[in-house]
Amino acid sequence: MTGARPMKGAVAMLGHPHYHFDRLASTNDEAKRLAAGGAPEGTLVTAGFQTHGRGRNDRSWESEEGRNFLGSYILYPPAPPAEWGALSLLAGVAVRDAIAKLADRSASIKWPNDVLVGGKKIAGVLIESTIMQERSLVVVGIGLNVNQMEFEGTYRLPPTSLALVSGRPSDLEDVEEELSGSLDHWYKEWRAKGNAWIAGKWRERMEPPGAEITIDAGPEHHRGKFARVNPDGSIRLLLAGGEERDFYAGEILAPDRWTGKEASAA
Ligand code: BTN
Repeated sequence: MTGARPMKGAVAMLGHPHYHFDRLASTNDEAKRLAAGGAPEGTLVTAGFQTHGRGRNDRSWESEEGRNFLGSYILYPPAPPAEWGALSLLAGVAVRDAIAKLADRSASIKWPNDVLVGGKKIAGVLIESTIMQERSLVVVGIGLNVNQMEFEGTYRLPPTSLALVSGRPSDLEDVEEELSGSLDHWYKEWRAKGNAWIAGKWRERMEPPGAEITIDAGPEHHRGKFARVNPDGSIRLLLAGGEERDFYAGEILAPDRWTGKEASAA
């Protein structure tokens, strides 16, 4: 899709209908199950606790019971698989803007779509896409730390929450409304204006990655000069030797100024 080709068709209100569960394995799995049963676009599944919450790259997503936003939205974008990467940019922009408003603080996006406040990770997005019943299904799973005050264990990036950055608790319903409204807004804008446009909005909000970065792309690490984030959601590096390469999945290893030390690959 380009900015010149708006997508046609009615767009549902994101966040409706909304199914809440006290406990689920993963809201992404439940969203896929509901989609297989014909759930409409915009459906939101939230949980108070996940027994098998997933993060990107086969990591787990841990969250204290009842304190945070754990939710997945069902989208059926009228776009082929090659264009699904732009939804990752869209989700990053939407979640970042909701958080900046809720926290009344500046927030940034670290590629692909971690949201940082003050250099600490406050939210992550797990997008899972497939073709289901001959249409694109994209599940946008969001973990946003809201009222959690302590984080045990080891993290690639130091974690934080809305309560820690704002000094006050937030109502989870208000958080859900803000997230749904922001996603709804950006999804409609993207459908009207396209991938290059949303990539521009993403770049305005990105955490400056630094001139030289390392991408952890599964078993391999690649070091090079940051060139840009592309409209398809990939990141382009200029590798030693002059080769330009686009990476579609992975993580930017955090530099010193985010963590105080180079993050481990664990
Ligand atoms: C990441 O930063 O690695 C992405 C984390 C995404 C976590 C959310 S919580 C709701 C949804 N359900 C899941 O199992 N994962 C996502």
